[in-house]
Amino acid sequence: MTDALGDAAMSPIDDLMIRAARHVDLDGLGELAGSRDRAEVRLQAAERGEEAMLVAVAADHVVGVVSVRWRDGCDAPNPWLYGLAVVAPARRRGVGRALVEAGEAAGVARGAAAMSLDVDVDDVAAIAFYQRLGYVVVRPHQHRWRALDPRTGAVTGEGTVSTWIMRRHLPGA
Ligand SMILES: CC(C)(COP(=O)(O)OP(=O)(O)OC[C@H]1O[C@@H](n2cnc3c(N)ncnc32)[C@H](O)[C@@H]1OP(=O)(O)O)[C@@H](O)C(=O)NCCC(=O)NCCS
Repeated sequence: MTDALGDAAMSPIDDLMIRAARHVDLDGLGELAGSRDRAEVRLQAAERGEEAMLVAVAADHVVGVVSVRWRDGCDAPNPWLYGLAVVAPARRRGVGRALVEAGEAAGVARGAAAMSLDVDVDDVAAIAFYQRLGYVVVRPHQHRWRALDPRTGAVTGEGTVSTWIMRRHLPGA
């Protein structure tokens, strides 16, 4: 992967492309999404039009992913950005920013005035990243998560995690 991304560590990736996720991406998304099943559940939601699922591609490799849920987020009426991850060799090269900005642009295109998300309360790196992109902490949150089987829709796990909700006004809205 490092070779595919070139040797210029920390420099922007020249041929970075952000596009909608496809089925052919699923095998490469398992690690970024936590598992292939989780990636497939997200792609299914995107195919139903409930969410956007965007991937960052460089040198024919998927190097990052993000999803944006259009309804039923935890900071209504704003769209809900979640599942952002960039492969380790591609970090600090603008991929995360490009994915968030693409998700925000999709939100603006749908008339959203702000984007919301949450981060684990102790995830200082993610909080710093989102603050760099203009997000501010608005309130504490108890996030209820559920894992689904993509074949049956059955709930395979659930739980609650303490997070901060963060929000950014979308200037183009
Ligand atoms: C968080 C994450 C998505 C950032 O992706 P990335 O591609 O490295 O981020 P970028 O290179 O686009 O960085 C954008 C800005 O944030 C800053 N930044 C990135 N990571 C940072 C960190 N850990 N601490 C402080 N600032 C950070 C960058 O310096 C950059 O600032 P600049 O534009 O002024 O130079 C990536 O580190 C990751 O996948 N982490 C694991 C999963 C995760 O934490 N996801 C988010 C929580 S849901």
